[in-house]
Amino acid sequence: SQNRLVIRHGKIVNEDGITEDDIYIEDGFIKQIGRNLIIPGGTRTIDARGKYILPGGIDPHTHFEFEFMGSKSVDDFYQGTKAALAGGTTMIIDFAFPKPGESILDCFYNYRQTADDKVCCDYSLHMCLPHWSEQVKREMEILCKDHGINSFKMFMAYNFMLNDAELYSAFEQCQKLGAVAQVHAENGSIIAKNVERLLAKGIVGPEGHELSRPEEVESEAVNRACVIAKQVDCPLYVVHVMSKQAAEVISLARKNNIQVYGEALVAGLSKDGSHCTHNSFQYSAGHILSPPLRSDPSTPLALLNFLAQDVLQVVGSDNCTFNSKQKELGKDNFSKIPNGVNGVEDRMSVVWEKGVHAGVIDPTRFVAITSTNAAKIFNLYPRKGYIGIGSDADIVIWNPTATRIISAKTHHQAVDFNIFEGLECHGVPEYVIVNGRVVVDEGQLKAVQGFGRFIETAVFPPFVYDPAKVEDLKPQRNGNVDEIQDIREIEKIISED
Ligand code: URP
Ligand code: ZN
Ligand code: ZN
Ligand code: ZN
Repeated sequence: SQNRLVIRHGKIVNEDGITEDDIYIEDGFIKQIGRNLIIPGGTRTIDARGKYILPGGIDPHTHFEFEFMGSKSVDDFYQGTKAALAGGTTMIIDFAFPKPGESILDCFYNYRQTADDKVCCDYSLHMCLPHWSEQVKREMEILCKDHGINSFKMFMAYNFMLNDAELYSAFEQCQKLGAVAQVHAENGSIIAKNVERLLAKGIVGPEGHELSRPEEVESEAVNRACVIAKQVDCPLYVVHVMSKQAAEVISLARKNNIQVYGEALVAGLSKDGSHCTHNSFQYSAGHILSPPLRSDPSTPLALLNFLAQDVLQVVGSDNCTFNSKQKELGKDNFSKIPNGVNGVEDRMSVVWEKGVHAGVIDPTRFVAITSTNAAKIFNLYPRKGYIGIGSDADIVIWNPTATRIISAKTHHQAVDFNIFEGLECHGVPEYVIVNGRVVVDEGQLKAVQGFGRFIETAVFPPFVYDPAKVEDLKPQRNGNVDEIQDIREIEKIISED
């Protein structure tokens, strides 16, 4: 049957260890794990000898078909998720951002309508708050209670930024609902003044981008967000941590038992700010995102080490792709270059190359930062981010010795530029299995439009800050063995039907 698959002789990597077992998959779930499994006749076998078997990647940060800075990002939910699968990512979480005048509830419905028929892999949504109001507050509750949303992103920069009092209220509402507050942490007021000053001085090229938003502009905002989150006992997730200074603020906050998580970007782990001062506008503009790649060349390795040490927990892509033509909107003014880079396809390979192949991160930590931690933080674990009985069969068979060279000529994304162009990566997804279906099969991509599902994420019990209890709370918030049992029960019921 098409629905049955056994993977033999591979090394199964979960965040807590590596085992050598066979995996039997049926109807989209992992049914059995072990040796000498009894398998029905006619089941397809994949031999994974010498390969790693990883939980499918979860990219918790994408912006598909996002209208932003006067442009629309070119990877849509079809091409974006297809490219994700090609690279070994089997689930994405996109940011639903309201259009002008649209309520967050309507925004949610419209994103579902757009995405549901296009996605090739499962997806969830984070809801962006474009402003603060009583209506937003009410609709946050509806989104959590009725629509499977458990995270909200607030901006501390751009013209839709929230001030501190508004952040306080929004975080407070997240806390009450049991949702995770996410922040784009940069001081928008300082950036606006810096942009004015730089443009007046005649600094109009891409090199002005980082000059207008230096590290302290990021780390100040991260610190402020941590302080506000602490006041109202709200769990905080800092998206796209791009600097050493910002990561150090998170490190200190975590030592002080503030429940804060940090997300690195694959761009930030492999590139520095020198790529934004190239004499080709097209090349430099192609590397512009916010917060910026940092001119301090020690940043990428430092961020990898912060991931290794659990100061940062997650690697996202922030895939928000604009073609060269769209980037030209900022030809005479760096502040008008649409912000964003690619990464949804290459995230797994680049993190493997820069992390595991380089010896900074071991395979279990690789799984944690590319999949399991995102699943835990956004309450998808152990259904996602874990290879265990009852989990969804989202699996990557990873060949650590094969290599590939990244290029816009061969990638599956819509965008005409790839910031990782020419990078040779060890670590290639040889087979990718999404919901039990083999979609990367001996190098062939067979993604199916609309095959993915919207995954509702439940809220957590509201977090209460208590230093004495923080340790007890962590495993509870992160899912545990009982939940795995539950999934097995559910799965049993499903299979008996
Ligand atoms: O530059 C970026 N990061 N573009 C995407 C929007 C955002 O702030 O995440
Ligand atoms: Zn065997
Ligand atoms: Zn952002
Ligand atoms: Zn983003």
